[in-house]
Amino acid sequence: MSETASIILNGSSYEFPVVTGTENEKAVDISKLRDQSGYITLDPGFKNTGAAKSAITFLDGETGILRYRGYPIEQLAEKSTFLEVAYLLIYGDLPTKAVLEQFRTDIKSQMMIHEDMKNFFAGFPSKSHPMGQLSCLVGALSAFYPESLDPNPTPEEEDKTIINLLAKMPTIVSWIQKKSLGHPVVYPKTNLGYIDNFLNMIFGEVNQDKTFDPVVIDAMHKLLILHADHEQNCSTSTVRIVGSSNANLYASVSAGINALWGPLHGGANQAVIEMLEAIKNDGGDAEKYLAKAKDKNDPFRLMGFGHRVYKNFDPRAKIIKKACDDILEKLGVNDPVLDIAKKLEEAALNDQYFIDRKLYPNVDFYSGIIYRALGFNSEMFTVLFALGRLPGWIAQWKEMRENKEPIGRPRQVYTGQTERNYVEITQR
Ligand code: SDX
Repeated sequence: MSETASIILNGSSYEFPVVTGTENEKAVDISKLRDQSGYITLDPGFKNTGAAKSAITFLDGETGILRYRGYPIEQLAEKSTFLEVAYLLIYGDLPTKAVLEQFRTDIKSQMMIHEDMKNFFAGFPSKSHPMGQLSCLVGALSAFYPESLDPNPTPEEEDKTIINLLAKMPTIVSWIQKKSLGHPVVYPKTNLGYIDNFLNMIFGEVNQDKTFDPVVIDAMHKLLILHADHEQNCSTSTVRIVGSSNANLYASVSAGINALWGPLHGGANQAVIEMLEAIKNDGGDAEKYLAKAKDKNDPFRLMGFGHRVYKNFDPRAKIIKKACDDILEKLGVNDPVLDIAKKLEEAALNDQYFIDRKLYPNVDFYSGIIYRALGFNSEMFTVLFALGRLPGWIAQWKEMRENKEPIGRPRQVYTGQTERNYVEITQR
């Protein structure tokens, strides 16, 4: 006998089916609620509302579990590569060696972007934020690949667009960085792997390829893997809802990039470093800033702390914090803000305000310290988050289409003026 939920409304009882996921998560399916009762539900921020059934990522905020297609994030971050994880998220299973090699080759062959895209860079003011540039340039890819506009592509055509976007994102990201420095862009090289290519386009010179310390390569794989997906977060939900109108992948991901930009979401990694720098420049007093974070009259928030879902530690933050120590030591980087971050974490984890609200460091708290040690400037941190999150956005967009989900169109409760007549005060 399948489980049901009864709701009593206005003296009538309504039964709704209960959906149980593979990890025993429960949901009341209210898709017939309005038809049967005339009522809707209201849940600002969707804190209690599931938007989809998904088989991509499972996370348990109470116990700090995160798995991509069933594989624990700790194992993938330690042993896998970013492209292998990208394939896993998008196609559902780990690739064979041969399939992964072909995936890598296909991506490498598409890393060049059309020379005319340079015209966009010429139009951006020199100090314009990289996230605004990224969303514009990714959306512009649909102009160069109009076949992506077909709302009903064949699986092969869809795969081509997926490869195209995975391949061109690192090139676009690196050109944004180069243009921000006023330096000539570096082109992708067919003899380099995905991460080496990316780092060479970022830090290499036009006629001088750079080789990178395995510590740096490993750190990039780890960081990109840790950011690759996170079920129905703000930016992923944006990608799904934009894609639900049959908008093309480039337009959907461009929208996701804009959602990620916000400092409450992916923009937090840049905000954390700016916060740590401000605390350092103000004498490094962690307690003073904890007090500000707790003061309801002070808009200051402890950036990189708290999470909608994790009410225990964010497993990614644990991995990144450990990687921070390893990488900075191996690179011989001594960043004073790392000590400030650790002091802040220690103080917050022992402070009743943070304990009561179950606020822990999230993925953004330590990641910027590593990005900075690798040589990225802080305005590029959220762009790096987007580079990592790309496979997740693609996987979720693909799943939404495969599940033939309806166009996303939430209801509302109207609280405005009731009917009133218009009285003209001027003649037309
Ligand atoms: C990401 O969803 C995802 O999965 C996102 C993400 C992903 O991988 O896609 O994990 C990536 O976005 C991580 C979060 C990065 N953002 C930040 O670090 C910004 C700082 N954190 C917060 O603004 C906040 O914690 C959120 C936005 C992350 C979560 O907000 P919620 O779930 O809406 O919680 P809330 O704002 O209602 O806070 C609940 C209470 C409030 O206090 P009370 O009104 O109960 O007294 O906790 C307080 C908040 O004031 N609070 C904080 C705080 N975060 C929450 N107080 C001080 N500092 C903070 N950082």
